[in-house]
Amino acid sequence: AQEVTFFEAVGGEPTFRRLVHTFYEGVAADPVLRPLYPEEDLGPAEERLRLFLIQYWGGPRTYSENRGHPRLRMRHAPFAIGEREHDAWLTHMRTAVDELGLSEQLDKMLWDYLVMAARSMINQMG
Ligand code: HEM
Repeated sequence: AQEVTFFEAVGGEPTFRRLVHTFYEGVAADPVLRPLYPEEDLGPAEERLRLFLIQYWGGPRTYSENRGHPRLRMRHAPFAIGEREHDAWLTHMRTAVDELGLSEQLDKMLWDYLVMAARSMINQMG
């Protein structure tokens, strides 16, 4: 039987494009988060996050074709991520998820994952 992936259920690539674009608009204007991003152009970082989330939710596996195994905790090790950065990240994600206007069930699946994943990226105390 064909299973509908979460990627398909939320509307595929355009939905993830909107999500991550709105999120990065928040990052670009955030005095806590913006300094963490090494590149002046946030476009490539936006693309990496978009492709990662698409792959995670059952869409095309372009992320790993380009970047290999995600190893996200390791890839975040160079950036000091404490409670403050975690909270700012989730705040912009919440705004971006809200703009999608997903059904309650799909919204909860996405949000629960993001909350769990953001917690796992914290690498600084205090
Ligand atoms: C990359 C910050 C949480 C997924 C990055 C980068 C920074 C960053 C500064 C480097 C930008 C780049 O060049 O790509 C943060 C902060 C977080 C956080 C402050 C707060 C908790 C997350 C979470 C996810 C995620 C929860 C996944 C759900 C990614 C991905 C990349 C990335 C996929 C690109 C990895 C690569 O291929 O190099 N993040 N991040 N991040 N982040 Fe996060």
